[in-house]
Amino acid sequence: MRGRDFLSVRDLNPEELHRLLERAADLKTRGKAGDRPTPLRGKVLALVFEKPSLRTRTTFETGMFQLGGHAVYLGPHDIQMGSREIPADVARNLERWVDGIAARTFAHGTVEALAEHADREHPCQALAALLTIQERFGRLKGIRLAWVGDGNNVLRSLVYGGTALGMVVTVATPKEYGLDAETIRQGRSLAAGAGGALELSDDPAAAVRDADVVYTDVWTSMGQEATAAARRRAFTRYQVNAALLAHAPAHAVVTHCLPAHRGEEITDEILDGPRSVALDEAENRLHTQKALLAEVL
Ligand code: CP
Repeated sequence: MRGRDFLSVRDLNPEELHRLLERAADLKTRGKAGDRPTPLRGKVLALVFEKPSLRTRTTFETGMFQLGGHAVYLGPHDIQMGSREIPADVARNLERWVDGIAARTFAHGTVEALAEHADREHPCQALAALLTIQERFGRLKGIRLAWVGDGNNVLRSLVYGGTALGMVVTVATPKEYGLDAETIRQGRSLAAGAGGALELSDDPAAAVRDADVVYTDVWTSMGQEATAAARRRAFTRYQVNAALLAHAPAHAVVTHCLPAHRGEEITDEILDGPRSVALDEAENRLHTQKALLAEVL
């Protein structure tokens, strides 16, 4: 994977995904025992962020530090992408100084422009979710993940990663906020090759019925604030709460990309309760991104 771009979970084949998760698990175990290898000594990663972040920024900066490298944070006011300088020129300059770029942008086209000289996916979140599920169940193949809520960037990455590794992904969204046709087509194609499945529904109770993992995320993502009121109305039935989880198997765990809008897509009781693995997943952002950085840089 050395020198490769990672813009989508589809950039990794199933073998590479498994290898990355194994490396992340190894780095995590060794790190907790005080054994921190530093393969990125002298390497520098630029963090080009157009959006606010707690988890993504902290885990990339901490990960680079723990691997022996260094991260330079460049926020929206530093670069002013598109108004002060076009993405391609930002990339042309950065490549003279740094070894890699981690980007959080509003438009996926910005990431592509950076990689070449929309926020369509959140591939690093999906890697952390996959490691968390593998830790909990000892495998990924055959695990049933029910997504309840908006058909957003996190879901797209989970569909690609989950179906490629043989999981059964069931998506419950209001019809007007569902997955796009291209993601459905690709998810089904990946599932067919790996023995998994991608199922679509608008019924959250039916979606969680056989679930091992229930996943939700905010109803209104960054940049969609103008549609928040309409979204709140459309998603009322899609809250992950005790009543919904009464339809799920007793062993099912719950997770969330975070940050959460408590009382909207998930209740305090569930997010803070014993079935929640959301913080395990947040921790695993660090370990999976360290594995990714070590492989790519
Ligand atoms: N889940 C996630 O990406 O968190 P941040 O927005 O805080 O980085």
